Amino acid sequence: MNRNDHEQSRNDRVLEEAAGIPDADRTPVTVIGLGAMGSTLAGAFLDSGHPTTVWNRTPGKADALVARGAALAATVDEAVKASSLVVICVLDYSVVQEILQPASSGLAGRVLVNLTNGTPVRARELAEWAGRHGADYLDGGIMAVPSLIARPEAVLLYSGTEDAFNRHHSTLSRLGKAVYLGSDPGLAPLHDLALLSGMYGMFGGFLHAAALVGSEGVKATEFTSTLLIPWLQAMMTTLPEMARQIDTGDYTSKEASLEMQASNDTIGEVSRAQGISTELFAPLYDLMKRRVAEGHGSDDFPSVIELIRKRH
Ligand SMILES: NC(=O)c1ccc[n+]([C@@H]2O[C@H](COP(=O)([O-])OP(=O)(O)OC[C@H]3O[C@@H](n4cnc5c(N)ncnc54)[C@H](OP(=O)(O)O)[C@@H]3O)[C@@H](O)[C@H]2O)c1
Repeated sequence: MNRNDHEQSRNDRVLEEAAGIPDADRTPVTVIGLGAMGSTLAGAFLDSGHPTTVWNRTPGKADALVARGAALAATVDEAVKASSLVVICVLDYSVVQEILQPASSGLAGRVLVNLTNGTPVRARELAEWAGRHGADYLDGGIMAVPSLIARPEAVLLYSGTEDAFNRHHSTLSRLGKAVYLGSDPGLAPLHDLALLSGMYGMFGGFLHAAALVGSEGVKATEFTSTLLIPWLQAMMTTLPEMARQIDTGDYTSKEASLEMQASNDTIGEVSRAQGISTELFAPLYDLMKRRVAEGHGSDDFPSVIELIRKRH
């Protein structure tokens, strides 16, 4: 066993202990779609000893998995019928439908787990379609990149048939921590996309900050490790209180009112002066100004959500 194998087997044990996976649980699994993510998912099942059947439009992508013990199905129908648990992870939901349609008669009595990225509406449509063909359906959101799969850091969100999730919890936990969000199949993609929204907001702020200091020749690497990461980590601790304000609707400012924060567009001014575009920051600043103009200057920052949230 080389160093990587040791590391992998240590990660497997951490995951198994965390998920309480019985050693004997080796449910056969089919994985349809062997792109960057699908082939990693299939590899994780194989590494944990699950008999694994695979299918991909381009069959050559299965070669490495077959060499590790996977069975290559000749058709989608054969792949679906090989296992009670069928995982699909392809480009988008249209491709999922295109692939599964000809094999729909084989779905009855199986659990279909769709780990393809999509929207709640498409997830509900697919769940309904799977149900009409006698299959239980789980929609999933993978909160990880392929290199994190089967590592303790990986989290996968699931929604759909609760009984199917409970039956296959230990097998699904081979991929990462399996979190069940509810019976509405749209909940996993909704949470997935909400988490990605948070990530892109942070990435957008990061790019603007790096562009600003970069305008004076400061390298992004040092700025990021010495100043930006500690700053963002400190700011992260303010999120629970902001979340409480959003849930209660009580935005009464305690220490940094919206009026004070929006009083001057200093970030816009310095950006323009340094030759940096304000395209990333300006939409947020405009919302802050609008909320103040509408008489909410003494609120805290989370009050801005009232301009974008759905009214019940
Ligand atoms: N990669 C990530 O970091 C990551 C993270 C989280 C979630 N995801 C989600 O996981 C899903 C797969 O991502 P990926 O990174 O594996 O993508 P990818 O490497 O581009 O692979 C795409 C897969 O879809 C198949 N496919 C595309 N068009 C098809 C068609 N018309 N008919 C049949 N098969 C088709 C490809 O088959 P061929 O091999 O024959 O082209 C391949 O298996 C996406 O929904 C993605 O959003 C990815």
